[in-house]
Amino acid sequence: MSGENRRRQKAFDEEAISAGNFGLEIDHDQVERETAALLAKMTPAQLRNEIRGRQPRPIDGLFYAGGDESLGLAPWKMVDGPRGARSGTATAFPVAIARAATFDMDLERRIGLAIGLEVAARGGNVLLAPTINLLRHPGWGRAQETYSEDPHHTGAMGFAFISGAQNHVLTSPKHFALNNLENTRFELSAEIDPRSLHEVYLSHFKRCVVGAQAASVMSAYNKVNNTFCGEHPELLDEILRGDWGFRGFVESDWFLGARSTAPSLNAGLDIEMPAPFRFADDKLDEAEASGEVEAATIVRNAGRSVHQKLAWKLGDDEVAGKRRPDATVVECDEHVALAREAARKSIVLLKNEGRILPLDANAGLSIAVVGDLANFENLGDRGSSMVTPSAVSKPLEAIEQAVGSCKIEFFGSYVELSRLAEFDLAIVVAGLTYKDEGEFIPTAQQDAEDETEFARGGDRAGLELPLEQRDLIERAALAANQTIVVLEGGSAIIMRDWIDSVDAVLMSWYGGQQGGAALADILFGEASPSGRLPVSIPRDMDHFMAWDVTSLSVHHDLMPGYRWLDQHGHAAEFPFGFGLGYTEFEIDDLRVERVGKVFECTVHVRNTGARSGATIVQLYVGHENSRVARAGKELKGFGRVELEPGESVDLEIEIADDDLRFYNVQADDGPDWELEACDYFLRVGLSSADLPLSSCWKFAEGQWKSS
Ligand code: BGC
Repeated sequence: MSGENRRRQKAFDEEAISAGNFGLEIDHDQVERETAALLAKMTPAQLRNEIRGRQPRPIDGLFYAGGDESLGLAPWKMVDGPRGARSGTATAFPVAIARAATFDMDLERRIGLAIGLEVAARGGNVLLAPTINLLRHPGWGRAQETYSEDPHHTGAMGFAFISGAQNHVLTSPKHFALNNLENTRFELSAEIDPRSLHEVYLSHFKRCVVGAQAASVMSAYNKVNNTFCGEHPELLDEILRGDWGFRGFVESDWFLGARSTAPSLNAGLDIEMPAPFRFADDKLDEAEASGEVEAATIVRNAGRSVHQKLAWKLGDDEVAGKRRPDATVVECDEHVALAREAARKSIVLLKNEGRILPLDANAGLSIAVVGDLANFENLGDRGSSMVTPSAVSKPLEAIEQAVGSCKIEFFGSYVELSRLAEFDLAIVVAGLTYKDEGEFIPTAQQDAEDETEFARGGDRAGLELPLEQRDLIERAALAANQTIVVLEGGSAIIMRDWIDSVDAVLMSWYGGQQGGAALADILFGEASPSGRLPVSIPRDMDHFMAWDVTSLSVHHDLMPGYRWLDQHGHAAEFPFGFGLGYTEFEIDDLRVERVGKVFECTVHVRNTGARSGATIVQLYVGHENSRVARAGKELKGFGRVELEPGESVDLEIEIADDDLRFYNVQADDGPDWELEACDYFLRVGLSSADLPLSSCWKFAEGQWKSS
């Protein structure tokens, strides 16, 4: 078939993803004038009221800030979080890193819409999500809350989530910035040079603020280059407002996000959450009396809160011009189905020796299900992102429902090995829980040691499974005729010791309240796996940068994730962007054209296998003859394609010149984004380690030439 007649699909449809995002409809200059008029009428006490939360504990999950009936100003009602509304019961979606594995921006937009709607139905108006801290190292305890080790990927997913959620409520991408080690988060300093900061660690925040018009931003606990993020003029003022034109407000992270009075207020930390400590009246009196804080600064910061209240047409039960939705939207059938779709699309098939998967439910197989986690509600950490659904589908019961004529027997974690040989195969469900990783709150951690329900795991010092989990897999693999391992967890897990002795591995993350059902869909072939890794799985922990969970100073550079592995010549066990399916895809015929200031790349994708399925086409850029340090390759575009057997499509991925600039610290008139004269390789494939197609372009004297 000639190229002209083939079906075409855009990898990223900005207009469709942005639809209904209320943040894009605001006329900020007009609102600025209304805000000025209102501020002029406000007393100092009313102004102070707008820059702080009301009480330490939430009411029904809602953290209140500001609000004054006499002025017609409703309070902010802020609600966590990244995998669902943390207020009463709510739909528990798969964790963000699982959703990132779908590389499906339309899906992430719909999840944003659903969570935003449930937050609004619970009475909230600010959603404390998404978490978009880059996964510098996969051992970060909160890895599950964020999207990826790659800034382009993180930015795209964050953009989609915010675009959806801001149909209903304000969002607050967090934690600004470089919050990526958990255990020492209140003290540590992230050390970073300007280029790595702008190109790698902030570019996704920029996309969320500039592109998706995130209405607020939460500051981080940690320091950046030795200054606390909550009192960081460069981050909060110069970059966020100066460079990116942010018109929203910045609230502190909870309790320890505001570390001072004057430096925080002056730097542009607008609201202290969840209650006044550093912004309490006595502290403000002192700071104003000493001249450290000017009255105008309080007006300015309060004004940013007031501005968004007017802009977002906030009423007591109204936001973005919409009335509070009925509570029946919470966990409605549509949202539960969406959670299942997301979980199903997020599962990554890492190994499938002899095509053991999918299992035929009508083949009368005898199956041993092994591991306590098969019968456990493993939704992820129990920190601020915890969500409580009214029902959870666990792997064991979902497998039991799906088995058809197969015979199932469940073994917990104690398995008589001799028994396993009686079965055709064993499905071992292993992995991590909230005890191994997650948000780390020291007091809660102490409780955890007494085995209370609110354990927080913090960072993982190593990337292996806990010993008993490894042992379970190794023993099962030894005894069973065939072994399928289902892994649960929120980040990379090293598998070197046992991967060669098992037949299949599925990474199923923390799949949310429909995780079990989605797993059964994949095991028995109701759907073909289409998840791709958003984090590299190394062969050995030493293949990554040094990782010390007690560190108080962490060096950051241009090379997190696959960039690091490339630079140090380490092949991953399973590379970023990798995942298998039950069908095969081929790509060919890469065509790259210049249209204005954009590369339009078209690639022909064909399902050559016998089943329907989906794949993720990925475009990376590498350089030659560059005068600055460059990563071997950097993801710059991707598209998810779903095809029937034999079907094909021309996928269009756009790369703008602006996406190819580097942050030149030595530019003549001060740091600037430069399109360097050098050779650019546009490389396309189905994982970061499989890029068969390429197109080379030279940029010289302001002109692009294909070479
Ligand atoms: C977390 C934030 C969260 C906040 C409110 C903090 O401990 O770091 O991510 O939004 O608590 O629950």
